[in-house]
Amino acid sequence: MSRIVLAYSGGLDTSVLLKKLIAEGNEVVALTADLGESDASTALSTGSSSGDPAAELEHVRKKALALGAIDAVVLDVRERFVNEYVYPALRANAKYQGVYPLSAALSRPLIGALLVETAHGTGADTVAHGCTGKGNDQVRIELAVRALDPHLKARAPLREHPLSRPDAMAYAAEHGIPVKHTAEKPYSIDANLWGRSIEAGILEDPWSAPPEDAYAWTAGPDARPREADEIVIHFEGGVLSSLNFGSVAPYARDDRSGAAMIAALNVLAGKHGVGRIDMVEDRVIGMKSREVYEAPAATVLVLAHQTLERLVLTRDELRFKASCDQKYAELTYDGLWMSPLRAALDAFNASSASRVTGDVRVRLHQGSATVTGVRSSFALYEESLVTYGHGDAFDHHAADGFIRLHGLPLDLVARVGNRSLDFASLRSG
Ligand code: ARG
Repeated sequence: MSRIVLAYSGGLDTSVLLKKLIAEGNEVVALTADLGESDASTALSTGSSSGDPAAELEHVRKKALALGAIDAVVLDVRERFVNEYVYPALRANAKYQGVYPLSAALSRPLIGALLVETAHGTGADTVAHGCTGKGNDQVRIELAVRALDPHLKARAPLREHPLSRPDAMAYAAEHGIPVKHTAEKPYSIDANLWGRSIEAGILEDPWSAPPEDAYAWTAGPDARPREADEIVIHFEGGVLSSLNFGSVAPYARDDRSGAAMIAALNVLAGKHGVGRIDMVEDRVIGMKSREVYEAPAATVLVLAHQTLERLVLTRDELRFKASCDQKYAELTYDGLWMSPLRAALDAFNASSASRVTGDVRVRLHQGSATVTGVRSSFALYEESLVTYGHGDAFDHHAADGFIRLHGLPLDLVARVGNRSLDFASLRSG
């Protein structure tokens, strides 16, 4: 018999797991994390969520207790998620394979950390989760647990005994687990404030276009406003500092918390259909899978952040950072969030971010987010140098010597092929 902390969503699978772990003779503490998933879906009329996020989570907590958990906790970790996971990833412009903003991937190490903290707080020796043996999330949660407390045992009961949907339903019926009598969900969904991922069902064929009913946060082509909206995003030290929606209804305008601003941006950009992603990606365990995502706020913010970086960072910083950013996304995807390299890259990003302060204006319209302006007091852009108009301050003659020396290696190579060539680049006058 163990005391086990179970990552509990309230859905069918984790409810069955809760019962099964108790039936094995264990004491189970249910842990549910509020990562802002419902903030985006409740705010959108297209959302599948039923209403008040806090009430929904309280319902999940009560359900765990009713199923026999010795304790059930719901932790509102939205701000922690933003500050410790989303913002560092934003500074790294993190997109896996250049496309997916890593919403699910960023949440899993936090869930791992919460499992460990709750285990320590309740005297549990084991943590458990509902991931299967095929996905990335098992790797991410368990590597986080191992990094934080190698003595804790981590269990994945669905890996020990894979459970089919019909078997889960039968078990639920037999053991009095309430199952929502909605039309059977054709997809596997995961969501938090950084994005929503949709898998399985008809999407398993990469040739089938995602049906409109796969989307809940982004409006389809027929439902988008005809008029564009323009917003101004202010970054301070590489993180979001304020959003100015202009004439648009001021969603949560006076709530400057990161989670509230991101939720508001999900709603506004989602209304314009911004942030739909459809990709075949490479999973940690080696297989390819087809994934559909909706990440309106992440799409806009990474675009805006990257645009501001181009204005304020030096050429060498940008070139070097591009490869670091790719590595950052890979570490995050591969479950190595807790690795020393990720921490080292954060330190590098924090250093360059000290000048990533400024405004980016973004136009949202018909599925696209387009930058229409950028400004910063740290801008390295110098109009008097670049202008073709009056007041050109650039010394054009300086380029002549530069080109000679820049091309010197090419002259040397050419001379090997033709000894009669002279060093054009070094000839004076
Ligand atoms: N493929 C994504 C990732 O590995 C999303 C996985 C989330 N799970 C889901 N049921 N959609 O990060």
